[in-house]
Amino acid sequence: MPNRAPSFIRSRSHGPSAARRAGFVRIAGAALVVAGLASIASLVPNAAQAQSAAGEQAVIEYRQLVMGAVGSNMGAIGGILKNQLALPGAIAIHAQQMADSAKLMGPAFKQKVSAGKTDAKPEIWSDWAKFEKAIADYEKAASGLAAAARGSDPAATGAAVKALGESCGGCHESFRKPKEQSYKNR
Ligand code: HEC
Repeated sequence: MPNRAPSFIRSRSHGPSAARRAGFVRIAGAALVVAGLASIASLVPNAAQAQSAAGEQAVIEYRQLVMGAVGSNMGAIGGILKNQLALPGAIAIHAQQMADSAKLMGPAFKQKVSAGKTDAKPEIWSDWAKFEKAIADYEKAASGLAAAARGSDPAATGAAVKALGESCGGCHESFRKPKEQSYKNR
């Protein structure tokens, strides 16, 4: 095999013009990053955009993604327990992620968007204090499960999973349309 240095090393020996080229690439790269940030900044919704149908749909999609992550974690925990999967520590991590999700829920639902492809009931905004209480109950239950799962008592973990499930039901009962009325069936 010919003993040739890789091209990126050889180009170094080409003197100032290569260095200038490299400098140009750096500057062009920085300019691209700045342009990228500017275009992202222009995507941050202003009040007018947020009122638009597209903006409202984005609000709905975001909060459904937050809830979907909660549902995925709950499903993962259920699968671990039901199938006795050997995943030490996993339940506590899923539960901790769910407790963290509680901090996303208030901001995700803060803006009133009750029409469109959503199962959120208008009661969320007419009884915001009760909705916040439901978030707090859920957060407590999720933290409780994280603590129980870090311990060594499977019965305590089972009871905490049940309590967490009840906290979902407690909120859905008051604030989420029943399955038969879900946007998914429309
Ligand atoms: C504080 C209230 C509240 C709590 C607590 C809560 N949810 Fe929800 N959840 C909602 C609301 C409201 C919706 C409907 C959102 C929409 O369609 O805009 C929803 C929707 C969902 C969805 C459907 C998301 C989609 O893609 O349409 C899933 C899955 C879900 N929740 C799972 C759970 C699970 C599992 C728990 C408990 C571990 C839980 N939720 C706890 C209020 C709550």
